[in-house]
Amino acid sequence: MLFTWKSKSILLQLLLFDATVTQSLSFKPTKPEFVILPTLREQAVIQDSWTEQRKANIPNILNEYGVDTWLMTQREYAEDTVFWSLKSAKQFSARRRTLQLFLASPKPGTPYSYSWIDNTPTVYTELLAILTTQNPSTIALNISPDISFSSGLHVGELTSLSTHLGPQWASKFVSVPMIAVEFVASKVPGQLEWYRKLQSTAWAMIEEAFSEKVITPGVTTTDDVEWHLRSKLLALNYTTWFHPDVTILTSLSPTPSTPNPHPQKPSPHPRKTIQHHDLLHVDFGVSALGLNTDTQHLAYVLPPSSPSTPSPSIPTSLKKGLQTTNRLQDIVRSNMLPGLSGNTILSNSLTQMHAEGINGKIYCHPIGDWGHSAGTLIGMTNLQEGVPVLGDLELLGEGYYSVELYAESWVEEVGEVVNFYLEEDVYYDAETGTWEWVWGRQEEFWVIRSVGEEGWQEEL
Ligand SMILES: *[C@@H]1O[C@H](CO)[C@@H](O)[C@H](O)[C@H]1NC(C)=O
Repeated sequence: MLFTWKSKSILLQLLLFDATVTQSLSFKPTKPEFVILPTLREQAVIQDSWTEQRKANIPNILNEYGVDTWLMTQREYAEDTVFWSLKSAKQFSARRRTLQLFLASPKPGTPYSYSWIDNTPTVYTELLAILTTQNPSTIALNISPDISFSSGLHVGELTSLSTHLGPQWASKFVSVPMIAVEFVASKVPGQLEWYRKLQSTAWAMIEEAFSEKVITPGVTTTDDVEWHLRSKLLALNYTTWFHPDVTILTSLSPTPSTPNPHPQKPSPHPRKTIQHHDLLHVDFGVSALGLNTDTQHLAYVLPPSSPSTPSPSIPTSLKKGLQTTNRLQDIVRSNMLPGLSGNTILSNSLTQMHAEGINGKIYCHPIGDWGHSAGTLIGMTNLQEGVPVLGDLELLGEGYYSVELYAESWVEEVGEVVNFYLEEDVYYDAETGTWEWVWGRQEEFWVIRSVGEEGWQEEL
């Protein structure tokens, strides 16, 4: 796959996806485009339809875990974490006391969900009436000590709830963390098509940021590139869930005019002005329609041509580093078997990685409703032996993951081992039982050429 061409188009283009193509296995990324978002009003319709479909699946999740009811209660600005996945597009916070009750198997003719927005004790009287009618034997609350998505019930709310319901009902409270995890991780048809558009936009933004349109070697700083990305998000009505991070990983300059940034040995004052021969890295995510992306890519600043190097190219050592990291991505992806714990997937992947003679680190996370979303973790940068609690959860066969990792590779020009960091998002394809790239994955460096070099201007 080639991703190194230059944009011939004006900046904004609406991508017209053919739903049958984008949903099928045969999806092949082409040129990433900036995708224009629908109006806020249209976005609300799309998001609310997804939320309703996901809520309709809650009884199935409750039945799966053998729990009769799931109760969330919160006050304005002290929301349960799950509130953000349950709310309608027009809700900006909980109001008063906002209470939501879901039933696994409601009595015939009664609804499976109830919600209240109230600031009087009536809410508890009505809740008690429903509990008395439905007579559940278990009431799941989000009170897990370890998992944020399953621990959103505030202590004051629990106290109020226990007091008003009384010991008879409080004795039925249970903590089943996987209910919230599975609900927040749940996805519905149609989301993938939009998730792909978000990825396309993220790639297009990286392509532009890592080009001579934005970077002038010797002038542009990594901060400039980060703020360019923030401005671009704003201009396209996207947001993000973290400030973009642009770094100079190392310099392959034969005669360094400025010190090698040596990020492998972190320096308190890393060089920020981008120079020819720099290996650049970006960690960037976009947010829209309640979805979040996470991408890490690499770029190389080509030196200008000179009599000794009339057509400068990407050094072989860098290409090898990227290829090695691509191989590690495939190792991890093929080990991501639903039903296994994140820790087992981590150890299986690390074993295979070492058997293939690769050194590196693996730290993959769920993504979707949140940048770091609900589900098991496959390593963390400081926890390559396994992640307590979160790593012990089973990998669900649904939702999106960020395959985040690095492989080490020797770079002759620098005389040291360099970490090649990559990150791409995958989705679970239930038909094949495999995790597939939502958009694609970086297999070639983004290239920053020198302004005035022959060949580049015509392409712009
Ligand atoms: C961003 O939103 C504004 C206000 O709705 C709209 O006028 C503008 O066209 C949007 N821009 C893009 C690129 O979608």
